[in-house]
Amino acid sequence: MDKFLVINGPNLNLLGKREPEIYGTLDLAGIESYTNKKLGDLGYNVDVEWFQSNGEQEIIEKIHAASEGSYKALIINPAAFSHTSIAILDALRVMKCPVIEVHLSNTNLREEFRKNKITAKSSSAVIEGLKEKGYFLAILSQLI
Ligand code: DQA
Repeated sequence: MDKFLVINGPNLNLLGKREPEIYGTLDLAGIESYTNKKLGDLGYNVDVEWFQSNGEQEIIEKIHAASEGSYKALIINPAAFSHTSIAILDALRVMKCPVIEVHLSNTNLREEFRKNKITAKSSSAVIEGLKEKGYFLAILSQLI
């Protein structure tokens, strides 16, 4: 069975309550259920592991552990670390499988500082602005 890892960064544990007009109304568990349902509806039987941390160190350690695993792809929403973290960029470079960066909002339409996505420089693709659909579409892109 194909295995995927989805990593979510800081403040994404507050999804649902946090600026729903920007990030949507689903919380992280709701996005996970939505993603599983959409994949199941299309007949895909995949193993998707979800991980969230507010800490840069925990995210880096999770990426290190994942680099030893056998994932078909790593999907990551580094959240604000996308704009700041060379350490996460460097960790992602260790991954052998494709890395897809997801953002719920379209960061290009927001503040200037969100336009620079440091971590995306180690991603094969970036999906943004599609709210909860982004994670599902990132996984689907590796199955079709
Ligand atoms: C985000 C966009 C980031 O700029 C922001 O810091 C987040 C969420 C998104 O999913 O749209 O926390 O990654």
